[in-house]
Amino acid sequence: MLIKRPQPGYSARIQPSEITPESVYLDRRRLLQAAIAAGTLAAGPAWPETRRPALAPLSFERNARFSTDETPNSYEDITTYNNFYEFGTSKGDPAANSGRFEPAPWTVTISGEAEITGTFALEDLLKPHPLEERIYRLRCVEAWSMVIPWVGVPLGAVLSRFKPTSRAKYVAFKSVHRPEQMPGQRYPVLKWPYVEGLRIDEAMHPLSLLVVGLYGKTLPNQNGAPLRLMSPWKYGFKGIKSIVAIEFTERQPPSSWNLAQPHEYGFYANVNPEVDHPRWSQARERRIGAGLFESRIPTRMFNGYEEEVAHLYRGMDLRKFF
Ligand code: MTE
Repeated sequence: MLIKRPQPGYSARIQPSEITPESVYLDRRRLLQAAIAAGTLAAGPAWPETRRPALAPLSFERNARFSTDETPNSYEDITTYNNFYEFGTSKGDPAANSGRFEPAPWTVTISGEAEITGTFALEDLLKPHPLEERIYRLRCVEAWSMVIPWVGVPLGAVLSRFKPTSRAKYVAFKSVHRPEQMPGQRYPVLKWPYVEGLRIDEAMHPLSLLVVGLYGKTLPNQNGAPLRLMSPWKYGFKGIKSIVAIEFTERQPPSSWNLAQPHEYGFYANVNPEVDHPRWSQARERRIGAGLFESRIPTRMFNGYEEEVAHLYRGMDLRKFF
C-alpha cells in the first residue's frame, strides 16, 4: 500500500542476528531453483527454515472448480514480497521481522448478531470442515498480482455454524494487537488493530475462503498466520491477516485503509480495471516474478471472477461504491 506519511525505518531496529545472512538466503534460492528443476516442488517445497519452527504439512483436496490453471508464484515470491504493516511497511519487512510472532495457541472470538457466540480455539473453529486447496489470483491495489495456492475452508461454512440472525447484514474482522511481537504496531502508520469487513452475502459467497495454509503447509507468519481471509475478487487489502475476532453486525463495519484514506480506498474494494485509484491506473497489473522486463497484463473485472460474483453488485454504481 502507498501512504503519504513518512514511514519509520523498522529495518534499522532489527538485531543483526535476526537477519538471514545473504549466503543462507542465496543457498535457499539455489535449493529452491534446484527443487523446481528436479520437479520435486510439487511434493512439498524444500524450504529450509533456519530461524522459524517448521511449518506443519496439511492434508487437503484441491478444489479444481475454484482454482485458476495459471502457474502459481514461487514459494519464495509469496513469502518474501508481502504487505503486513504490523511488521513494517517494506515488502521484505514481514519476512524479516515476524520471527518472534507466536501463532499458537490461538483463539477467535465470535460476537454480535448470531445465536451462538463465544471464544473458540482455532482447532475447534476449523475441525468440522475439510481443508481445500484453491489456487487464486491475488490482485493488490498497488497494481501487482500473484497466483497463490491457498489451503483453507469456505468462510460461509464456518460462519453458518454460529447461526447469524436476520439482523446480521455485515461481518467485521479484527487482526491481533501485539506490539511486543509486531514491531510495526509501535508506530501509528495505521490505526491498530487492522480491521476489515464484508457484506454478509460476500462473506457467504462460496469463493470467500478462511485461509490456514499455502503450498500445502501452515501459513508462515508473514502471510497472516494462523488464520486470514481471502475473497479473490477484491483487492488484496481486504484479505485481513492473523484474525482474532469476527463480529456479525447490522451496520457496515470500519475497514483500516478506508479509515486511513477514505477517498482512495473504499469499503467494497472490488477489483475493477475501469475505476482508477486517484493516484494511478488500475487497468493493468504487474505479475510478480514474471521477470524484469515483463509487460503489464490487463486487469480483469472482479479479478477474473466476474461470472461468479457480478450478481452481488447488480444495480450498484461501482464508481460510487468502490
Ligand atoms: N492484514 C493485516 N492485518 N495487516 C496488513 O498490513 N495487508 C493487506 C492484506 N492483509 C495487511 C493485511 C494487503 S495490502 C495485502 S495486498 C495482503 O494482505 C497481502 O497478503 P500477502 O502478503 O500474503 O500477499
